[in-house]
Amino acid sequence: MDDNKEQITCLSVGLLVIGVVGSCFLLALVMLAGRGVPPVLAAPVPAHNASLPHIRIFDRSFEAAALQKGQAIYLQHCAACHGPEGRGQFPEAPLEPDATGRIGAPPHNESGHSWHHSDALLIRYVTEGGFSDLTRFYLMPAFGEVLSDEQILLVIAYIKSMWTDEQRASQYQLTLDEEASLR
Ligand code: HEC
Repeated sequence: MDDNKEQITCLSVGLLVIGVVGSCFLLALVMLAGRGVPPVLAAPVPAHNASLPHIRIFDRSFEAAALQKGQAIYLQHCAACHGPEGRGQFPEAPLEPDATGRIGAPPHNESGHSWHHSDALLIRYVTEGGFSDLTRFYLMPAFGEVLSDEQILLVIAYIKSMWTDEQRASQYQLTLDEEASLR
């Protein structure tokens, strides 16, 4: 009789343990699945730019953590047109008109010309949208109502991480010159 009882107790304890471990496992799976962060968002900022102490917008510096945030904003709001790696809407011929006669979203990486724009102009572009002739260019939407001022700076800082050191230095100088000329 006692033996039987002991066996039943052992069995119940065993089942309980299996139950607890099993639930933990399931819970972990659900939590992992529920995180819902596409792996691409977790991608690190490209290594060739990781050492940059000098990503600046006007006087403010942006470090790796800020660039990660900028990257997430870029992937969510800009990558569909400018390409996830900033290679432009039509990477094969980014600055040529397509069959409709229009030029697509330009590249933001070192092959493009975003770095020819001062900080003020970059901010204006993102806030107010494009101002080119829509028969010749695709539309660049305005993000002033979609993103906060801070998010706009973060995403521009991330775009700057796609440029070379020389391009960044040149664009910084351009920004300073423009500011000086406005004073
Ligand atoms: C619907 C497509 C589309 C989306 C989304 C989009 N852009 Fe653009 N963008 C364009 C097009 C097309 C142009 C060129 C047209 C023009 O200059 O008017 C452009 C031009 C620009 C320019 C100026 C040109 C240059 O070479 O630098 C900047 C800066 C820019 N986009 C940044 C962004 C940022 C940042 C985002 C995300 C917050 C974004 N764009 C989202 C289509 C898009």
